[in-house]
Amino acid sequence: MANNLPDLIFEKEFTKQESLPTEAIERANELLQSGRLHRYNNAPGEESDVALLEREFADYVGSKYCVALSSCGSSLYVALKCAGVQHGDLVLSNAFTLAPVPGAIEHAGAQPILVECGEDFCIDLGDLERQAVLSKAPYFLMSHMRGHIADMDRTVDICKQLGIKLIEDCAHTMGAKWGSRFSGTFGLIGCFSTQTYKHINSGEGGLLVTDDERVAAQAILYSGSYMFFDRHISKPDVKIFEEFKYIVPNLSLRMSNFQAALIRPQLRLLHQRVAQWNERYRVLEARLKQIPHIRVPERAQKENFVGSSIQFALEGLSGPEAEAFVGECHRRGVAVMWFGRQEPQGYTSRYQTWRYFNSVPRLEQTDHVLDFMCDMRIPLTFSVEDCGVLASIIENVMRSITR
Ligand SMILES: Cc1ncc(COP(=O)(O)O)c(C=O)c1O
Repeated sequence: MANNLPDLIFEKEFTKQESLPTEAIERANELLQSGRLHRYNNAPGEESDVALLEREFADYVGSKYCVALSSCGSSLYVALKCAGVQHGDLVLSNAFTLAPVPGAIEHAGAQPILVECGEDFCIDLGDLERQAVLSKAPYFLMSHMRGHIADMDRTVDICKQLGIKLIEDCAHTMGAKWGSRFSGTFGLIGCFSTQTYKHINSGEGGLLVTDDERVAAQAILYSGSYMFFDRHISKPDVKIFEEFKYIVPNLSLRMSNFQAALIRPQLRLLHQRVAQWNERYRVLEARLKQIPHIRVPERAQKENFVGSSIQFALEGLSGPEAEAFVGECHRRGVAVMWFGRQEPQGYTSRYQTWRYFNSVPRLEQTDHVLDFMCDMRIPLTFSVEDCGVLASIIENVMRSITR
């Protein structure tokens, strides 16, 4: 089949998202007409869209509290502050992640201890344990990068044994689970994104979840609640705020009602969307696994991931061949991203380019994994048949490169 498609070009856009549900558009219009966009501008007796969203999202993941913020990156920053990170503190984190994660660590004035990425594209838990023991870092900001969830039972054990506070970056795992438990609920805090390319689209937006009442109270104050914390539905006893209201600064990182109005109807569709993503992922995975020089890592049994993107390794190719493969895929309309590029490009950057930190060590295992790692979005504007066409083009390109 692949060889019958030598000139086929894929025409659809990889960055085209679905339009928003009618209910979201209608509510957004109502808000525009009322002008009540700021979350604390609710009419007497009315609950704001943001307050309702926080309660619904906390219920969805099974956490006690949720605080809505302006982005996941700002949630990560607030999470670090709430966990107690001070200037100069050490924070374990993935060497393989995207720029808002080291950005949040730098914003908090902390120093990262970067942990290797494994061949399965998950963080290397052996290296985590080694580096945690060596550095004595008291915090771990863990990215479930591109939706790959490491063994969370072992992660929690390591953190418990070494007294490490775990913060999960779930920008790519909203709706995903490890076993029967939602990603984002394994540590002290979980942070989610509702930026356009994530599993719910409100342009920008972040959701922080926790079971800890002191973290929740601080996160509400940091988010920019002024003294309106009593207007939150998902909140601890107001007495807890007495301890913090004079010492936690207002960072003005709130979410607006407009964003919340877009998110709430999408949250109700998330379960259905996860099934649609995974159907597409499984088609691509099965086809890509058949292609020589392509390795798609096996996913752990307990990993109930959301296949909104697919990653694969190019095996047995030289660096120039890998680059030629990616270039030819792009020429044929298949937007395969490549982590092998040394220069930051688009949304991707390698840890060596985060030069705002004093020093970043060389991580040879991660370098090798990234040199041959490809990444492709699977937007829901692609049909299952489109996924078959994508696989055929990739197969064709690979054959032309390795002929
Ligand atoms: C792994 C990862 N973490 C965090 C973020 C931050 O999300 P946001 O854009 O909502 O700040 C992103 C954004 O792309 C991301 O990819």
